[in-house]
Amino acid sequence: MSEPPGSAFASRFGRAPAGSACAPGRVNLIGEHTDYNGGWVLPAAIELSSFVDVRFRSDRRVCGYSTSRGEAEAGLAEPAHGNWLDYPRGVARVLARAGRLPERGFELLVRGELPEGAGLSSSASLLAASALALRSAAGLSLRSEELPDLARACQRAEAAFVGTPCGVMDPFVSLHAARAHGLLLRCSDLSFRQVPLPEALQLVIVDSGVEHALRTGGYAERARECAQALVEAQRVLGIELGNLSALGEEQLAGLEPALDPLLFRRVRHVVTENARVAAVALALGRTDFEALGSLLYASHESLRLDYAVTCDETDWLVAHSRELAAVFGARMTGAGWGGCTLHLVRAPDGPGAAEALAEAFRGRFGRRPRTWITRAAAGARLTHAGDGPPLEPAPRSPSARAG
Ligand code: GLA
Repeated sequence: MSEPPGSAFASRFGRAPAGSACAPGRVNLIGEHTDYNGGWVLPAAIELSSFVDVRFRSDRRVCGYSTSRGEAEAGLAEPAHGNWLDYPRGVARVLARAGRLPERGFELLVRGELPEGAGLSSSASLLAASALALRSAAGLSLRSEELPDLARACQRAEAAFVGTPCGVMDPFVSLHAARAHGLLLRCSDLSFRQVPLPEALQLVIVDSGVEHALRTGGYAERARECAQALVEAQRVLGIELGNLSALGEEQLAGLEPALDPLLFRRVRHVVTENARVAAVALALGRTDFEALGSLLYASHESLRLDYAVTCDETDWLVAHSRELAAVFGARMTGAGWGGCTLHLVRAPDGPGAAEALAEAFRGRFGRRPRTWITRAAAGARLTHAGDGPPLEPAPRSPSARAG
């Protein structure tokens, strides 16, 4: 946008915003369906964000305008309406209940760069940007120690208010990501470390264009299966585990004959995926791209066979990657049942690989998928405080080239 920060807000609501923030979407390098099992994940932020401007009102109305989804309005205390405003309203309610925001309505303007429904966390980025902008508009501090609590508040808003089951990974990485790094996060205690991503790697994302209605129901079903498997595993082993990620690979052989075969496959995915996350962090440190690629392919196989969350289109995109010399490895990323695939490509061959994948996909499925080429981006930030000048310039997305 070439207009000065906050001017779209001012022309719509008649006054300048009091808090403004942006937060990126994410791509998960590895560690899928491990977050709600207390395990490891290794996502990175992408160069596409949601931008939010906010100003509190004196009453309890929430009035929003989204450049992609239009106007929406609701009372702060009303139940979810099933529209996009539920996200900012939900996180405002969670934070207000925890005494971390005033219990007041607000005006809010959203500009989103992320595709919706593609599994790149447009909702987590909207939640994270709203949380930061609201805290800033309330004149409350934004110390980095508070970010884990904000991530939890975003997760709670999405799960309990909006009604979409989810783990903590997406808002956490949106708030904590560092440019040129992946974020190695242990979801049981939110301890994390930034892992440098070598310059020689480009992340190519391909949107299968498949948006299964199954996603929400399927996700909740997997979470239930894991909860049941945990109870069974604890009974068989006679120990308290806390979560499935407390299991090691050496315990799998003992569990296999004792567990229901479907539950065993879910457990095996979680346990082996945690091991792959650790192995990917090591391979990144050694810049061993061959090992990295194999681990991504192995993750996809586990998601296909043991966790059963892939689909024909994502399976095909991953399989086709093996035919492209510049691609080290690929996997589905996000919840699954459609959504996007991630392809790790040798720089500077990202655009060529994206084009080859898109054209081959068109040949196979009769339509050209959207593609993005990105490097790991920085996490959420204030874009300007109050009516004053920007604290930090809002990131644009010059190298997140849409294809
Ligand atoms: C969705 C959820 C995340 C995570 C992934 C699967 O993106 O929002 O919390 O569970 O699926 O890894």
